[in-house]
Amino acid sequence: MQDLLFATNNQHKLREIQAILGNEFHVLSLKDVTLDVEIPETQETIEGNAVQKARFIHGLTGMNCFADDTGLEIDALDGRPGVYSARYAGEGCSFDDNIDKVLQELSGIENRKACFRCVICLILDGVEHLFEGRVDGVIIPERQGSDGFGYDPVFLPNGFSQTFAEMPAYLKNGISHRGRAAEGLRKLMLSKK
Ligand code: IMP
Repeated sequence: MQDLLFATNNQHKLREIQAILGNEFHVLSLKDVTLDVEIPETQETIEGNAVQKARFIHGLTGMNCFADDTGLEIDALDGRPGVYSARYAGEGCSFDDNIDKVLQELSGIENRKACFRCVICLILDGVEHLFEGRVDGVIIPERQGSDGFGYDPVFLPNGFSQTFAEMPAYLKNGISHRGRAAEGLRKLMLSKK
């Protein structure tokens, strides 16, 4: 089984990506390689952040590794929170704070269209590869469900009656932004085997 280091401290993401990549690959977390670092994320695009995070971890370890970055882009908010999705309600804010802010900004607004966009940057044998995944949906006015993380309780993907926080993991992973980007990564890794 091939080891691949994932530049994240987020255990939810780690579980999702391991489930998507399956048995052919062993996804290692930063904790698994005893790396206790704050990963810089200072770029103005999600592509820029994915590349920055992957290069940072590759620079420290020299290992084959990848990083992802995601933005929730809401039509009526001109694409916000976008690249600022993690800290939309301010530095050190919680997932709930971010959801509250989005719901408040959308209150009384009819157009609830939104999408998650995810970019994964893989550095394999020193070469960078980018993969993108996107899922479209709407922001519902009240939280539904308690699984997942981030904005999952208020994101209803198009064509489904459950939010990401209500869906079983396999269903979310099959249609999600990260799932789709990771599928590109998986295919490339398999083609190099
Ligand atoms: P990150 O930069 O990839 O960590 O994503 C930024 C923020 O987007 C996270 O802090 C979450 O609030 C949100 N986010 C990323 N992926 C998801 C997801 O799969 N579901 C819900 N929210 C997400």
